[in-house]
Amino acid sequence: MHRRTIESSILFVAFTTWACTTLAATDADAPMPSAMDQRVRACTSCHGVQGQGRDNDYFPRIAGKPADYLFNQLIAFRDGGRTYPPMGYLIAFLPDDYLHKISEYFANLQPPYPNADTGNISPAVLQYGERLVTHGDPARKLPACAACHGARLTGAQPGIPGLLGLHASYIAGQMGTWRSGTRHAVAPDCMHAIAVKLTDKDITAVSSWLARQPRPDDPRPASSSDGTLPLACGSQPQ
Ligand code: HEC
Ligand code: HEC
Repeated sequence: MHRRTIESSILFVAFTTWACTTLAATDADAPMPSAMDQRVRACTSCHGVQGQGRDNDYFPRIAGKPADYLFNQLIAFRDGGRTYPPMGYLIAFLPDDYLHKISEYFANLQPPYPNADTGNISPAVLQYGERLVTHGDPARKLPACAACHGARLTGAQPGIPGLLGLHASYIAGQMGTWRSGTRHAVAPDCMHAIAVKLTDKDITAVSSWLARQPRPDDPRPASSSDGTLPLACGSQPQ
C-alpha cells in the first residue's frame, strides 16, 4: 500500500469510530433537540453545521428537504439503493426509528444556502438548461423538472427534494448514477426513466443552470405536488 493510502485508511477508521460512537450515544426514544445537535455532529462534519451543504465541495445540502425524502435516502445508503461507504458504515446499524428522527431534525432546519456556483458557462447553455427545467422537451417526452420539483424548485412533501442550493457537480453526479443504475428510488423510479433520456449535454445544461439560481424567497417545499405528476414516482404516491 502507498503511504497516502495507509494514512487515509487510518484517518477513515479513526473518523468512523468517532462518528459511530457519537451516533450510538443514543437513546432512540427521546432525543431532545440539543442532544440531537450533539449526535448529528457525525453528519455535520461533511454536510455543514446545519446540513446547509458546503461552498466548494460535493457534499450536498440536506437541510430543509422533506423528512420522508431524507429518510428514503438514509435507507438507500444503508441498504444499497445508493452507495457512499463512509455514510453507509455510519448508519449501518441504526434502526429505522432513529433514522426517522435524524431526518425530521434536518428537515426542520432552514440555514442559509451555500454560495451559488460561479465559473464560465456560456449563456446559450444556461438558457437551454432553463428551458429543460421549466418546459422539458415534449418532442422527446421529457417532462419539465419543475412539473415535479415545483414551480419554485423547492420540492414537495412528502418525497420530492428541492433542487436549489446544490452544486452542479452533485446534480450531474446524481443524474449519472440514475442513468447507470447505481442509484435507485422506490419503484416506479421516475428519476431513472428521466435520466436515461438525458444526454451529457442536457445534464451539463440543467445542472449548471440550477446551481446558479439564488435562494428563493420561501425555500420550504410545497405541502404537496400541485396536480398529477407527469410520470408515476414510487416515492411520491398520489
Ligand atoms: C464522510 C462525509 C459524510 C458523512 C460523515 C455523512 N455524509 Fe451524508 N453524504 C455525503 C456525500 C458525499 C453524499 C452524496 C453521496 C452520493 O454521491 O450519492 C451524502 C448524501 C447524503 C444524503 C442524501 C442527500 C440528498 O439530497 O439526496 C443524506 C440524507 C445524508 N447524506 C445524510 C447524512 C446523515 C444523516 C449523516 C450522519 C448520520 C451523514 N449524511 C454523514 C457525505 C457524508
Ligand atoms: C415525474 C416527477 C419528476 C420529474 C419530472 C423530475 N424529477 Fe427529479 N426527482 C423526483 C423524485 C420523486 C425524486 C426523489 C427520488 C428519491 O427518493 O430518491 C427526485 C430526485 C431528484 C434529484 C436528487 C436530489 C438530491 O438531493 O439528491 C435530482 C438531482 C433530480 N431529481 C433532478 C431532476 C432534474 C434535473 C429533472 C429534470 C430534467 C427532474 N429531476 C425531473 C421526481 C421527478
